[in-house]
Parts: sequence; structure tokens; C-alpha cells
Amino acid sequence: MAGIRMQGIVKTFGKTTAIKEISLEVKDGEFLVLLGPSGCGKTTLLRCIAGLETVDAGRIFIGDRDVTDLPPRHRNIAMVFQSYAVFPHMTVRSNIGFGLRMKRVPKPQLERRVQEGAALLALEPFLDRYPAQLSGGQRQRVAVARALVMDAPVLLMDEPLSNLDALLRLQARADLKRLHREVKRTTVYVTHDQVEAMSMGDRIAVMREGVIEQCEPPMQLYTNPASQFVGGFIGSPPMNFLRGRTKAGAFEGEGFSLPMDGSRVEDGRELLLGIRAEQIRFGERGVPARVQVVEPLGATALVTVLVGKVPVKVDAPVNTTVRPDQNVSLAFEPADIRWMDATTGAALAH
Ligand SMILES: Nc1ncnc2c1ncn2[C@@H]1O[C@H](COP(=O)(O)OP(=O)(O)OP(=O)(O)O)[C@@H](O)[C@H]1O
Ligand SMILES: [Mg+2]
Repeated sequence: MAGIRMQGIVKTFGKTTAIKEISLEVKDGEFLVLLGPSGCGKTTLLRCIAGLETVDAGRIFIGDRDVTDLPPRHRNIAMVFQSYAVFPHMTVRSNIGFGLRMKRVPKPQLERRVQEGAALLALEPFLDRYPAQLSGGQRQRVAVARALVMDAPVLLMDEPLSNLDALLRLQARADLKRLHREVKRTTVYVTHDQVEAMSMGDRIAVMREGVIEQCEPPMQLYTNPASQFVGGFIGSPPMNFLRGRTKAGAFEGEGFSLPMDGSRVEDGRELLLGIRAEQIRFGERGVPARVQVVEPLGATALVTVLVGKVPVKVDAPVNTTVRPDQNVSLAFEPADIRWMDATTGAALAH
């Protein structure tokens, strides 16, 4: 058993509080993604789990062991760093086998595992090359292979695919996911790519300024974001938000009024109406808008319309007939609306 349990973790660097107070449990065998914008504390939290940073407060458990005061080598984890550290003076083969050599794994077994690791990441043709003779993406794959062959029960990965081009990245994403299904290691995976997070995570912890805003399975985050921040971060395009105010059982936005289940919300409250692009249709009646741009994307078309001055993204069929400067009406189901408090950004219970 090697789940990870963090209790009240705080980490400061001088005056900067990188981690405010995080409690989070990663289940044994789970693939947990840490997602958030640059500087929100993802790497710092990962380094705290690894023991590369000492925490200012809180405890960290791996399995049943309190590892808070243990050095990294006693925590039984493998880690892939954001700036993939491969040893320049070692061949790819030696780099991948490095951790195993440190652990004095017998040679035949070591060689077999290096081969397997290289095969998984399509590095076989490069085994005898040095890092300087590789592309950035290939070097990064070496770093991933080196961590994977370690067989540690906990795997920490910090943006391991960030240097791969789009196609390789897509492939590597699927490979890592398959690999995790085969060898259920407890994994914490950092990314700021929300598509990657959605596709890979059993759960996604969305971080913002040193705290976790919401931690749930991908589709739950997508469907029921706990805040405007989460709704605006998850999904491509992000959730649309229209500002307005409640009045006599209706929501009054810029140039439109929608009936609301008014019994729950008092009059005069500033709210945001949150709605996903694929839940909006061009209808006869609804929120008046003006088409700005139509972008055919292959399977669908992404249409940007303006409601007042606010751009709203609509997923339309690729053969949509709407054209720039056309006046349209946006229709959607009341059940698809996510209401947020306009001041705090927090979702209202529904
Ligand atoms: N060694 C350090 N000394 C001082 N401040 C640091 C140090 N490491 C991180 N920070 C600060 O802590 C905050 C969190 O940084 P961190 O590297 O964890 O962010 P991140 O979410 O990984 O960002 P990115 O997506 O850009 O990698 C930032 O404000 C950063 O400037
Ligand atoms: Mg980082």
C-alpha cells in the first residue's frame, strides 16, 4: 500500500507563500493530476512530497509511514523533473539504468528493464547516444524512462511531456495512461495543460495560488465546477460567463432577461451565468448576440459571438450557416446553467 496523504502542508520561500495549506489524499494506485496556472505551486507541492523541500507545517504520509522528516532516498519514490535532468556524460542506456545501478540491481535484470523502458518510450534507436545528440523531446523521454524503470510504488512527474511536439505528446499521453493501467503505481502528475489533465487523471486537483480549489474526477469538474476559476480553467474552450443581477425571479443580463428559479436567490444579487459552448444552440428566442468569428475546426465549428461586449464561444455544426455580423439568439437549457456568485466566483448550490 502506498497512497499519499498530505495534512495541512504549508511551504514558504522568504515572503512568498507557495503552498498555503493543502490537505490531500492520493489513493493507492490512483493517477492524480495537479493542474493550475504558472506559479500556483504545483512543482513546490511535488518537491515537498519527494522530500526535496522541507515543509514549514503539516505532515506527509506515504503508505502508513510518516515521511515528513525522511530524506528523499528513503521515501521510495521515482520522480521526473520539469527541467528533465539527464546526465550529459552518460549514454541513454546508462541514463535509463542509473537509478537501478544505484540500487545494485543485478546486471541481467538491469539490462532487461532498461530495454523495456527504452521500448516503452521509443528510445531503442538512441540507446548508445549521448544527450547532446538528442532532441529536447527525446531527452525528456529518457528522463521519463529512467523514472519508470525504477519500480517505485510512487511516481511523481512534473510536466513530463512539455517538450514534446503535439503529435508525440498525444502518443506519449496515451502510452503513459496505458502504462499506468498495467502497473498501478500511485502517480502524481503535474501539468498546466487541461486537456492532458482531463484525459489522464482519475482525479484532477485544480490549484490556484497555493491552494486546491477543487479535486474531483475530470467529468465532475467539467460539469460542476466549484468556481468560476475552475470552470474557466477546465475545458476547451473554457466555460462562458455572463454577468447579471437577479430581479423579480429573473436574471437580468446585458440586453436580456431569463426566468430563474427565483425562490432560491434573493433579489438584487450579482451573479454569473456559466454555460458550456456545446450547450448553446442558435435558436429563435433567447439571449441576443452578434456573430464575430466563425472558425471551422473539422468536426465542428467554433463560433464567437458577442453578448453586449462579452465574447461567448458556441460549438456549432461545421456546416453552420451563421456568418460574421449576423444577429442571432442563444438558447440553452436552464438545467445546463451553472450559477456563480459574481463577487466570490463560488458556484451556488443547485
Ligand atoms: N526556490 C524558490 N525560492 C523562492 N521562491 C520560489 C522557489 N521555488 C518556487 N518559488 C515560488 O513559489 C511559487 C510557486 O512556484 P512553483 O514552481 O511551485 O509553481 P508551478 O505551479 O510549478 O509553476 P510552473 O507551471 O510555472 O512550473 C512561485 O511564486 C515561485 O516564484
Ligand atoms: Mg512547475
